Parts: sequence; C-alpha cells; structure tokens
Amino acid sequence: MSLLPEVSAMPIEIRRMQPSDFMQVMKLLAHWNIAPVEPSREVPVPERSEIIVDNTYVALDGDRIVGVCSFIQHSPVLAEGASLAVDPAYHGRGIGDKLVSASLRERYARGIRTVRSEADRPETIRWLVERMGYRIVGTVPKRHAFGSPAVGQWTVLEFDLDSLPELRDSSSE
Ligand SMILES: CC(C)(COP(=O)(O)OP(=O)(O)OC[C@H]1O[C@@H](n2cnc3c(N)ncnc32)[C@H](O)[C@@H]1OP(=O)(O)O)[C@@H](O)C(=O)NCCC(=O)NCCS
Repeated sequence: MSLLPEVSAMPIEIRRMQPSDFMQVMKLLAHWNIAPVEPSREVPVPERSEIIVDNTYVALDGDRIVGVCSFIQHSPVLAEGASLAVDPAYHGRGIGDKLVSASLRERYARGIRTVRSEADRPETIRWLVERMGYRIVGTVPKRHAFGSPAVGQWTVLEFDLDSLPELRDSSSE
C-alpha cells in the first residue's frame, strides 16, 4: 500500500491563486521548507514573509493543489520568482514547466523584462537552466534555514524575457 495519495488521471488545471487556496498552498510550500515565515527577533528578515495572491498561479488535480508558482515585483521591469513547488507525487508531468510558463507570460504582460530566481537544490538549478532557459549569475548565502537543509547558499539565476520569441511576438500582435 502506498502512503502517497492516489494520483488521478484527470488533466491538470493551471489557474490564478484564489484566497481560499491559501492553506493548501502553505502545506505544499511547507513540504519543501519554503513556506513564508513571519519576521521575528531570531529572523528579522525572512527569506519569504508572504505570498502575494495576485502574483500566484496554482496547478490543480480536481480540487487538490499540486503545484504553485509566484513572483515578487522589484521594479517596473524586474521580478523575482518565488514559492515554486510541485507535489512530489506529480513530478515529471510538466506541471512546473506549465506553472513557470504561465507566470512568465503574466510578468511579461505587466512590462517585466528580466526575471530572477534563487534556487538551492541541484536538480532544481539544472531544471531552471536546461529546461526553462535561465542562466546562473551568482550565489548569495541563505539568511536562515530555508529550503534544502543540505545547501547553505542560493544560486541566483536570471532570464531575459525578450529572448523568448513566443512572448516577444505576442506583444506585437
Ligand atoms: C523544480 C520543480 C518545480 C519541477 O517541477 P516538475 O513539475 O517536476 O517539473 P517538470 O515536469 O516541468 O519537468 C520535469 C523535469 O524536471 C526534472 N526535475 C527537477 N527536479 C525534480 C525532482 N525533484 N523530481 C523529479 N524530477 C525533477 C526532471 O529531471 C525532469 O526532466 P526531464 O523532463 O528531462 O525528465 C519541482 O521539482 C519542485 O517542486 N522542486 C522542489 C522545490 C524547489 O526546489 N523550488 C525552487 C525554489 S526554492
């Protein structure tokens, strides 16, 4: 008997997050140790202190949230990817790809041209570079325990959205 909940064969829906998704989204982020935390005396500036519902897409299998992807806008043209997670029972089905692609389209439509991301797990960094087209631009130390306990730094990655023909061409239609 598997401990994992049954994975259905239903098509996965990608849609904007709604406030009522909050608890399920937090549970999924907590699984990867990337759920936002309140600022405290021990951690005055957490890695993530909130999730901005309007900047977030979710993936659903029926009414079960199996993926999430958000972003934080730093300037009119720069945004940082945040809170990207897929339920491990659903890995390798293109859900991360669809979530990031929906999020990048949304960012481009808002005028954002450069996106930044910070990742720690080697497989995620590889995924961002090889599958999504990001380039590594540096590293920064983690401010506190967050994400993979095995890695003490973030690899910083960037992506120039104008380099994606499907985004560039859609804006000139
Ligand atoms: C990175 C992540 C979002 C990818 O989601 P996904 O839906 O499994 O990815 P996709 O199905 O679109 O892509 C599958 C590819 O990702 C790779 N991959 C990356 N991380 C993986 C993982 N933990 N498990 C399985 N495959 C993974 C696979 O090798 C696969 O490559 P292939 O298509 O050549 O076989 C997901 O693995 C995840 O939630 N990781 C943990 C959280 C995380 O690191 N978040 C980043 C910010 S801290």
